[in-house]
Amino acid sequence: MKKGLFIVLEGPDRSGKSTQAAMLRDWLLGLGHKVRLTREPGGTYLSEKIRAILLDPKSEIEPLTELFLYETSRAKHTLKVILPALKTGEIIVSDRYTMSTTAYQGYGRGLDLKTVETLNRIATMGLKPDLTIVFDVPDKVFKQRECRGNDRMELQGASFRLKVNRAYKRLSSRPGVKKVDASAPIEAVHAEVLSAIRPLLRKKGFGTR
Ligand SMILES: Nc1ncnc2c1ncn2[C@@H]1O[C@H](COP(=O)(O)OP(=O)(O)O)[C@@H](O)[C@H]1O
Ligand SMILES: [Mg+2]
Repeated sequence: MKKGLFIVLEGPDRSGKSTQAAMLRDWLLGLGHKVRLTREPGGTYLSEKIRAILLDPKSEIEPLTELFLYETSRAKHTLKVILPALKTGEIIVSDRYTMSTTAYQGYGRGLDLKTVETLNRIATMGLKPDLTIVFDVPDKVFKQRECRGNDRMELQGASFRLKVNRAYKRLSSRPGVKKVDASAPIEAVHAEVLSAIRPLLRKKGFGTR
């Protein structure tokens, strides 16, 4: 049924996900593959509306409400964009997916991890990425690199953001997850991303030239 490839980039804010997602997309396009770059929360008209609510500093959102908003956005994104594209053999590169919810709403907000993972499974209908790349930022570099933005998630306190950063370190030992040192220069991080992607492309019958 599923012919494409589903690659997810994860990590805390400002770990370089969006930078690397665009570089990876361009590299895959250069190989002649059909590639779709997408993001969470977002990726569809409805999901981008939910993203705007989630990131609006004026939104008052309890942790449980926040969890459901992320999962609602994800259900739509998965049904409308990811599954159809995978069916036609495209390579999907998503800037965040389920691991973000486990890290932020589970470890960060302290919601029950089993509940979070159950809702992740429901919202994705059990779809799992072929590979999740976690951009790992040492705590010290994390504090230095932080030039905080002004969206609702970036305005969370330092202890929340540190919990999330540490959650990613734990989650990156899971199967199907590759940890990349995000404190290296941009080109070196890109090279590490490619060395994780190449074997997967070969295994799944996509050319790597
Ligand atoms: N490896 C890196 N070293 C130093 N700065 C980086 C690196 N990767 C990205 N940046 C810079 O850090 C900032 C955040 O990067 P971005 O890709 O937007 O992160 P994210 O999408 O994870 O929030 C940007 O200004 C970007 O240019
Ligand atoms: Mg980004």
